[in-house]
Amino acid sequence: MAAVGAVGAGWFITIEGPEGAGKTTQTQRLGRRAAAAGLEVVVTREPGGTTVGERVREMLLDAASTHGPRADALLFNAARAELVESVIRPALARGALVVSTRFADSTLAYQGFGAGLDLDELRALERFATAGIVPDLTILLDLPAEVGLARKDFERTRFESAFGLDFHRRVCDGFRALAAADPVRFAVIDARATAAEVESAVTAAASRLTGLGLLQPGDASSEPERLAQRIPR
Ligand code: TMP
Repeated sequence: MAAVGAVGAGWFITIEGPEGAGKTTQTQRLGRRAAAAGLEVVVTREPGGTTVGERVREMLLDAASTHGPRADALLFNAARAELVESVIRPALARGALVVSTRFADSTLAYQGFGAGLDLDELRALERFATAGIVPDLTILLDLPAEVGLARKDFERTRFESAFGLDFHRRVCDGFRALAAADPVRFAVIDARATAAEVESAVTAAASRLTGLGLLQPGDASSEPERLAQRIPR
């Protein structure tokens, strides 16, 4: 059983990636599988997942908001602090599996690599907000910025509409750099594969972490082990 920031006996999995990568779908599917295997599962998202977090989310994603990246970093971390304290930490202490769509790596990718804020300062902010909780496994659903943005052509939030393609390319590169720097925590999956194939690969990575056989015989054949590569050291 994985040690999670020294809290309890649960597992903390985050699903990260650029716009349009299918993170929400995969979070929900993994949650359903783990629940079917008998685990207590807590599925959540960032920003959001708490009353205050959902209110902060509205401000952050409102296309009419004009504040800058430092305010963004603080607001995302305010929502994060509340999510960790009121949802994630108690769930891990109970032994649950927590699956979150986005977490702290999104701040490094968007406000750091994308908007140019200092990564070490953002990491210090993250440590304060999370009180040291780090995911056991981060699944990066990787795909080119333009492919993801095209998938979301009709429902764009502030980040998708007000920030250009270059910004989103830096975000994608940032996620890849974060994964390459921490190959033990990250599994990188090519999100251009079908949803079923990506699901198999996500499931394979979660099975490795938990030691539970979450893959079923009828799963998309693919080669989940090939798709869900941990980046070689
Ligand atoms: P989403 O729920 O559609 O992914 O929207 C969240 C948006 O907020 C997305 O564009 C990524 C962005 N974001 C950041 O810029 N920094 C963060 O720390 C987080 C969690 C999200």
